Amino acid sequence: MKNKLHIKSTEDNSHTIYSARFNENYHSMHGAIAESLHVFIKSGLNYCQLKSIKIFEVGFGTGLNAFLTFLESAKKNLKIDYTSIELYPVDDSLIKALNYNTIISKDHTQIFNLFHSTEWNKKAVLSENFSLTKIKYDFNLHQFNDYYDLVYFDAFSPDTQPQMWSMENFTKTYQALNKKGILTTYSSKGLVKNNLRNAGFKVYRIPGPKGKRHILRAIKEI
Ligand SMILES: C[S@@+](CC[C@H](N)C(=O)[O-])C[C@H]1O[C@@H](n2cnc3c(N)ncnc32)[C@H](O)[C@@H]1O
Repeated sequence: MKNKLHIKSTEDNSHTIYSARFNENYHSMHGAIAESLHVFIKSGLNYCQLKSIKIFEVGFGTGLNAFLTFLESAKKNLKIDYTSIELYPVDDSLIKALNYNTIISKDHTQIFNLFHSTEWNKKAVLSENFSLTKIKYDFNLHQFNDYYDLVYFDAFSPDTQPQMWSMENFTKTYQALNKKGILTTYSSKGLVKNNLRNAGFKVYRIPGPKGKRHILRAIKEI
């Protein structure tokens, strides 16, 4: 099936993308930016105590999580080495139509565009504090060859993409985390919790953003 995508507005006025291939939106309709800030920045990045952090993201998509992480790294003087995997990159024309810069920071339009124009499968140093590696590959087949402190798990939902949330995928992710490593995700489905636990994680249900009672933070405690 063709990866037909189109932009939609969410409740906080920020855009998301609808994917016809998966019949699913990239973000919550209660607010794309609000969700991203809550699930990944507040519950993941801000929870992590390190000053130098290696992040792995499942699903680069619009680059919103990466962009917000970049801004936070500048604000808090964090050193971020950010790697993101994406199997279906979004077309440039659609990326250019997204309103994230307008809402978050017009001053950073160039950097947002840079997130998308950097070469795939190659590390790009975007600032003193931030480097980005985008991997164009299927996460289900991906073999980690590095270690991370924080994982943003942002695949489409477990109902749509059950394999992405499998125990096998969580096990390889667990093995690629440093001690005390953190995984955050927007889904708190029973199956996700069980697969995370069976992969070795200690799983915590924490309050979610608007429209979602709970999300998950999973920790590699040993
Ligand atoms: C819920 S969206 C979130 C995207 C992104 N984090 C954002 O904020 O825009 C899920 C993303 O996972 C990507 N994806 C789907 N299947 C994948 C796979 N097997 N491997 C890697 N990425 C995949 C989709 O193309 C999409 O960009």
